[in-house]
Amino acid sequence: MAKKFIVANWKMNPNSVKEAEALFIGVCKSAPKMKNTEVVVCPPFVYLDRLSGIIHNAMPIGRQAKYKNQINLGSQDVFWENRGSYTGEISPLMLKDFGVKYVIVGHSERRKYLMANNEIINKKIKTALKNNLKVFFCVGEEERDEKGKYLKFLKEEIIEGFKKIPKDNLKNLFIVYEPIWAISSNKGAAADTPRNFLETSIYIRKILFFRFGRKVAHKVPILYGGSVDGKNARGFLEEGRADGILAGRAGLKVKSFVDILKSLK
Ligand code: 13P
Repeated sequence: MAKKFIVANWKMNPNSVKEAEALFIGVCKSAPKMKNTEVVVCPPFVYLDRLSGIIHNAMPIGRQAKYKNQINLGSQDVFWENRGSYTGEISPLMLKDFGVKYVIVGHSERRKYLMANNEIINKKIKTALKNNLKVFFCVGEEERDEKGKYLKFLKEEIIEGFKKIPKDNLKNLFIVYEPIWAISSNKGAAADTPRNFLETSIYIRKILFFRFGRKVAHKVPILYGGSVDGKNARGFLEEGRADGILAGRAGLKVKSFVDILKSLK
């Protein structure tokens, strides 16, 4: 069975390093031991150092040492240059120095509030991949229309995001299909169905097939994000054949995140 990826995007939460540590340690302690599953936590940048310390120095938190290789850190964004005069930005080299392995690029909230467009996202993906970071490349439409216009929109996001990226650089790339209307912070949000996810992921693989050929189309993992919880996660992975989950709200409480992990056992 292919490896599954369960990712928590903490977004701009929690408000203090104390709470961040408590949440992370809670997850490390209560996460069930799972075969063939990688758990990734993506906190705000300012907590990465402390959380990386917990992983790497195996602080005295009971069972953490046992899960040391199982819980990884990711960041919620990254800049497209390795160094230089870019006030406020964080480079791939800095992230790697903290022990970060994964980065989220192209999240819809950064597209909406921080002017991340396809061109910027493409530059970030390129640099992150060159630095051997694993990239969760997020795509997703704002609304789903009957006529299927959203498919065209998705195609554009994917094609533009991949522009001038050589096929050989794609081994660390993941696509996250995260329809904006399904993200829990949006009014009236509800999770997509596993069936729809499956259809959309087949469509995404077709795009990859025409752009990069069969091998890439087959290999790139496709994750689902949007109102995932302990009740619906399994459906996405089994019926929807998702390669993983990107959770927002459910990642902010030890219990709800661990419920997702337990539901997959
Ligand atoms: P929710 O799980 O809260 O819907 O958030 C999804 C998301 O945006 C993860 O990146």
